[in-house]
Amino acid sequence: MSDKIQDIDFEMDEAVCICSGTTKRRIIELIIEGHDLDNVSRKTGAYSGCGACEYDLEVLFKIHRA
Ligand code: FES
Repeated sequence: MSDKIQDIDFEMDEAVCICSGTTKRRIIELIIEGHDLDNVSRKTGAYSGCGACEYDLEVLFKIHRA
């Protein structure tokens, strides 16, 4: 596995929401399944604490929503 692929894979397992520990991979999976922010928050606990993840969630929705 190249270093670049390993870096991307590692990034996918980073927590987007520190409060809930929800990873970028999990958020993207739910967006692709068609869940809106409320559903993602209910299912993972993301964006239900301090709110610092709001911008990152908005960006992921803009990139991955069909
Ligand atoms: S970092 Fe997501 S609610 Fe605090």
